[in-house]
Amino acid sequence: MRKPIIVGNWKMNKTMKETKEFMEAVDAAAASENATYGIGAPYTALSTAVAGAKNLIVAAENCHFEDTGAFTGEVSVPMLQEIGVTHCIIGHSERRTMFGDTDETVNKKAKRLIEAGITPILCIGETEAQYDAGDSEKVIRDQLTGSLADMCPKCVGNMVIAYEPIWAIGTGKSASVEIAENCCRIVRDQVRVMYGDDAAENVRVQYGGSVKPNNIQEYMAQPDIDGALIGGASLKADSFIEIIEKTK
Ligand code: G3P
Repeated sequence: MRKPIIVGNWKMNKTMKETKEFMEAVDAAAASENATYGIGAPYTALSTAVAGAKNLIVAAENCHFEDTGAFTGEVSVPMLQEIGVTHCIIGHSERRTMFGDTDETVNKKAKRLIEAGITPILCIGETEAQYDAGDSEKVIRDQLTGSLADMCPKCVGNMVIAYEPIWAIGTGKSASVEIAENCCRIVRDQVRVMYGDDAAENVRVQYGGSVKPNNIQEYMAQPDIDGALIGGASLKADSFIEIIEKTK
């Protein structure tokens, strides 16, 4: 049985003060045997988030794959380890589009995180043009082929993969439950093709893209959707608590 995992991705939102307030308001609600809940916070808020998290897991939103060096503005995996984060989002479409992340760099990040005992939350997903052209499956399989290259089957089985169609992110135009389930099933199948049955059955696949309190349950009811990566609806304590309560 895969344990569901629901993570808020705050993106470039929340100061340390706001983070402290959020943790005080939400952390107790996240106590659950049945599911894992967490938030992804900007670097400057991570220590505050970790300090306030008894139940929530705390994820960074990016990392560098090198440990040290001349990489102005970057943060390494050992630095995240020192803070105590347990998860790290990698390859988000905003990073791929605006900051040059590629399947190759994302693959290096995944490997370095796994080596450090931090669980990668690997994001993939097609653009609207690719969706319109009927290329979703090819894009998903290609991104996974590159992002998961040369890894151990057990490592991949322990990862989280978030399928986030770019056309559904922040648009309010969420993918239909059928599309989300079908694409998450393709994600799992590609893991099976690359790393076998155990990895495919263990890997947790999230859907992301305009997930809200009013649609989370439909997604969570699908056999290949094991959780969600949530942007806008994770920013307000009451809406994230509502999501938690509806999925406990
Ligand atoms: O990583 C989460 C994400 O990009 C989805 O954002 O605001 O559509 O839930 P949103």
